[in-house]
Amino acid sequence: MTAPIGEEPTEKLIVNLSPELRRDLRIRAAELGLNVSDATAHALSAWYARPDTPAVEVKGAKSWGTYLPAGGVARFASECQQRGVTKVQGLSQAVTAWLLAHPAVPVENRLTSQPVKRILVALQKGGVGKTFLASGLAQALAEMGLRVLVVDYDPQGHLTRRLGQELIPMDSKASLLDHMLGLATRHIRRSLVVLPQSRFGERLHLLPACPDAFLFDVALSRMRAGREESLARALEPIEADYDVVILDGPPSLGLAMDIAMHYVQRRPGELADRSGILMPVWPDLPSFQAYDLFDSQRRELMSMARVQVDELGFVVNAYDSRKGASVQARRDEWEERSAPGVLAVFGDLKEQREAQDRSVPLLEYDPHCELSSGLRALAREMAA
Ligand SMILES: Nc1ncnc2c1ncn2[C@@H]1O[C@H](COP(=O)(O)OP(=O)(O)OP(=O)(O)O)[C@@H](O)[C@H]1O
Ligand SMILES: [Mg+2]
Repeated sequence: MTAPIGEEPTEKLIVNLSPELRRDLRIRAAELGLNVSDATAHALSAWYARPDTPAVEVKGAKSWGTYLPAGGVARFASECQQRGVTKVQGLSQAVTAWLLAHPAVPVENRLTSQPVKRILVALQKGGVGKTFLASGLAQALAEMGLRVLVVDYDPQGHLTRRLGQELIPMDSKASLLDHMLGLATRHIRRSLVVLPQSRFGERLHLLPACPDAFLFDVALSRMRAGREESLARALEPIEADYDVVILDGPPSLGLAMDIAMHYVQRRPGELADRSGILMPVWPDLPSFQAYDLFDSQRRELMSMARVQVDELGFVVNAYDSRKGASVQARRDEWEERSAPGVLAVFGDLKEQREAQDRSVPLLEYDPHCELSSGLRALAREMAA
């Protein structure tokens, strides 16, 4: 007997699973209000009862981990052995059968009732690839046909400059901070820039940074009320124009980060893991330490403000296998985490630096490079 579903998951199962099955499992679980571990446990239970489950394709499966109730890992291993299948095949069969038994909610029923999807790309560690990821993901989503707003929420203004755009001048009463403080003198739509490349079909809009963002924490701490909702209030007049809003987070933990996390909280009626935080990390020890601190801030915010802020996943960035076994081991360590999982691994590749030097969007600079293809795959996963 497998341990009953609903018990505290206690054991970690690490098996390869294809990115497609991981994505579909995550999405379908969220649609059904389950977490991934519970969905996997359901899938395995059903699989144990069906010895005739057909074989499936396991090509491209990558290391993946999840938690099972006590005894679940041994039960799974012995069932695979009895059936003469590998664990990858066994888990892939179970997940495929479960997905077939739980068809997707029709898109038209889903989209109408869901708010704009909001993604905060963040980690307080500097230089891990937040701007690269926020920008690349926004480009790939717009290329797919979605209407995307990417917000330069970092006072450094890197995103704005790398997309070849100008910062909003100080004292213009048109910055994001002005809108958050209620001091703006014109509609926020007038502060947006439409990225000109035909590849994005005028669907990719940028809210540029303004140097006043360095005053963010000071200015916002003086607000007497409604500070937490200030970003939602500022963006509300334009949210309906977009399918996705992406924030490029600053390399710091503080009030600005709290407010950004607050903005991507799960809204009433919104599916789990639809909006939330996407975290670029490096395959190194400081990234694990940075993440622990970041996660404690997220948890504290959730408990103090009584909100749910979902983690959408990690992106392991600047991975270079030539840097040795410890880099490989750290990458594996990230990949073996199930909640949240690793959604993509990007190499340290020259095209990003070249595009940046020219202030041209990466997908425009080299649409066929490995990074552009990887960003498109990530965008397909995030768009669902
Ligand atoms: N996968 C990659 N391949 C090559 N270069 C990369 C990659 N990812 C990021 N970079 C480069 O590394 C540098 C840091 O990346 P990025 O600015 O995106 O990090 P960040 O986390 O936004 O930094 P900050 O904390 O300052 O905001 C940039 O020069 C960027 O072009
Ligand atoms: Mg940045």
